[in-house]
Amino acid sequence: MRSMTAMAIVSGLFACGGSTARGPNISAPLPQSATFAPGPAARPTTGVALPLGKCVNLANMLEAPSEGAWGRAFQDADATRIKQAGFATVRLPVRFSTHALAAPPYTIEPAFMARVHHVLDTNLAAGLNVILDMHHYEELFTDPSGNTTRFAELWRQVAEDFRGAPSSVWFELINEPNGQLKDSNLMAVLTPALAAVRASNPTRPVVIGGQNWSGIESLATVAFPNDPNIVATFHYYDPFEFTHQGAPWVNPVMPTGRKFGTAADNAQLIAALQQVTNFINRTGRVPFLGEYGAYDPIPEDQRVSYYHTITSAFASIGIQSCAWGYTNTFNLWRDATGWDQQLLTAITTTTTVQ
Ligand code: GLC
Repeated sequence: MRSMTAMAIVSGLFACGGSTARGPNISAPLPQSATFAPGPAARPTTGVALPLGKCVNLANMLEAPSEGAWGRAFQDADATRIKQAGFATVRLPVRFSTHALAAPPYTIEPAFMARVHHVLDTNLAAGLNVILDMHHYEELFTDPSGNTTRFAELWRQVAEDFRGAPSSVWFELINEPNGQLKDSNLMAVLTPALAAVRASNPTRPVVIGGQNWSGIESLATVAFPNDPNIVATFHYYDPFEFTHQGAPWVNPVMPTGRKFGTAADNAQLIAALQQVTNFINRTGRVPFLGEYGAYDPIPEDQRVSYYHTITSAFASIGIQSCAWGYTNTFNLWRDATGWDQQLLTAITTTTTVQ
């Protein structure tokens, strides 16, 4: 069972100033039920933006301790089904760290690498872009400096293996830095890994998110290496007591019945938009929302409201998003009943993809 005690962080409300050129007018009265009109995808002046379009995470598949341990494994038919449902991109979380030698040369199990290749290639063949994300490297979070070399050497292998992949494959160095891996030491840990990637993939876009599970607050402090092909990301699961109510991997398990859409929830979301706008103004970078969502047992109407409100809110300032996550725990698709059509329709993205 996963434990995410420290993940139970909820964004505080931020005092906001007036509106900015790109940001929402946060001085307007807060609606009881917020509605947002999608805008065109924002363009960075620093770094690159990915033509994400509608995006979904292949959640709890290759990131589980072993594939199938946290829900069902990936099936080849998933890729075409996702493409046909209107998605342009999948984010593929992969736990390489438990499938590799602990000591030099940190060799990744060939069978696991082959499986990752197969899953990635199947999604590419379906016409999807793929974000290949290193996920759940727990030792990197408890002992960053002790794992910096191994982390880089894992990436050296992954990057070499995918050096021939088309330009629609993007790398994400590490999902949700947390624990001892903070923005203050993140660059020291990421720099050797990025160099290892660049040895074989000099220009492929590389995604980086900041500390505390890449929560919205990390946008104020995260820094980036000096590389033209970096993409910023963040995650949004606020209010956490809504999105993760009843989730067994949160310790303690939070009570169910919490609804979404109070005035405070809307204020929190509007503050988050301002935080993204501040980040864009500070860095010139346009981040994407790499994960958001609400646990499956939450009532349908509440989940629909959440997925719609979150995606359209971020789309209103030109930010694209990746839903968590397809068919495990935060289901959009169920093998027994098919797509949750209401949820599919609820997910909104920007009006242009680039
Ligand atoms: C993070 C975790 C993943 C979890 C998800 C939703 O991505 O790494 O395991 O399922 O958040 O809680």
